[in-house]
Amino acid sequence: MPAKVDMDKIVSLCKRRGLIFPSSEIYGGLASCWDYGPMGVELKRNVRDAWWKAIVHERDDVVGLDTSIMMHPGVWAASGHIDSFTDPLVECKSCHLRWRADAVEGKGCPKCGGELTEPRMFNLMFKTSMGPVEEEASTVYLRPETAQGIFVNFENVVTTTRKKLPLGIAQIGKSFRNEITPGNFIFRTREFEHMELEYFVKPGTDEKWLDYWVKERFDWYVKLGIRKENLRLRQHGKDELAHYARDCYDIDYLFPMGWSELEGIANRGDFDLIQHAKHSGKELSYYDNEAGEKYVPYVIEPSAGVDRSVLAFLIDAYDDEEVEGEKRTVLHLHRSLAPVKVAVLPLSRNEKLTPLAKEVFNKLCPNFVTDYDDSQSIGRRYRRQDEIGTPFCVTIDFESLEDKQVTIRERDSLAQIRVPIEGLDKILEAKLKGEAFDASPLWATREK
Ligand code: GAP
Repeated sequence: MPAKVDMDKIVSLCKRRGLIFPSSEIYGGLASCWDYGPMGVELKRNVRDAWWKAIVHERDDVVGLDTSIMMHPGVWAASGHIDSFTDPLVECKSCHLRWRADAVEGKGCPKCGGELTEPRMFNLMFKTSMGPVEEEASTVYLRPETAQGIFVNFENVVTTTRKKLPLGIAQIGKSFRNEITPGNFIFRTREFEHMELEYFVKPGTDEKWLDYWVKERFDWYVKLGIRKENLRLRQHGKDELAHYARDCYDIDYLFPMGWSELEGIANRGDFDLIQHAKHSGKELSYYDNEAGEKYVPYVIEPSAGVDRSVLAFLIDAYDDEEVEGEKRTVLHLHRSLAPVKVAVLPLSRNEKLTPLAKEVFNKLCPNFVTDYDDSQSIGRRYRRQDEIGTPFCVTIDFESLEDKQVTIRERDSLAQIRVPIEGLDKILEAKLKGEAFDASPLWATREK
């Protein structure tokens, strides 16, 4: 069953509402590169924050890290990326387009039917040179995953935090892959952001922890509003496992182009620590005080893409609805992900309303991401906020000047409630936390 919205609608909404723009657009764009606009930057930050909160702040067995994008070239020799981070590439002898051999159905070029070259292995790492003189500079790579920055700091983190196993080290940051066939908007790009956790465990407990993390990560998407029926788990076959993996599950999402990987959770065993110990000459092991033994930990790795998660959240939240006889496009985003939490909307630009509306805005904006909009009709302004998924609009009308009350309009139910300005921040705070708030002493409910 295909997803309910096609990708063109998502791309168009993202452009129209300042979520995501094509990169370098005035120069005609750059293939597979995208820029996050004023709304997109908030959404992306909220996705990162939700991950960091669940993985680092709400646990005492995980710490964070932020390592450099360029690393010693020896890292990539040890990790196997120089030899094995490759895709089979074929080129059309007529139109010269290049394809991933494993993605081509049939024998000819998918574009023109021309004859294809024999596959050759193409390394996906971006190379650059470090230092002011190119000839003398040594080659360095832009990291294709953040994980290696974690492995090479394992010793540093264990010694400085004095934490015991199981211990997780988490990192969010940019990764780069010279993908042969990027595409599907921000699904597969050459520059993207990773959210990765390397969870170090005692060998023998790894299978239990793999199951644990598969469930945790699946539930994370559901808690943040993705419908369960649009998610599925898929275990990798032995022949598709990455060079470092003993076992791996994908969490797939039903994207418009069909079921595709949203996140991978791999059991990397002791592959990386052993490799780095061998190549660096430094011992990378752990002394387990309780067991009285030394061992090389195994690693469970939930690895997700920020951009791909943003795309899944957008697709799942998107709806074209008819309400009160009018069509609207709405993003039913989880309140914690919505780029703007509250919009302050004076009924009109009338000069009598502006001071009170500004006062309300100033009261709310230190605590919530708040938008102020007084252009065009109130109906149009509601539609605009619906399109970016703003959970609450606060309307200031002429009565507000007299009774110091305003109307809160809820995005999903469209319910409107009248509340005193005095208690507005408390009410919004509770609602944004998803808590019930007994406001009966404070407000009078008004018919829509
Ligand atoms: N360290 C393990 C690792 O990188 P992966 O399956 O290659 O594993 C993990 O990547 C996640 O990163 C994917 O599930 C996806 O969400 C995201 N990702 C990978 N390549 C991507 C790309 N070219 N563009 C956008 N996201 C990507």
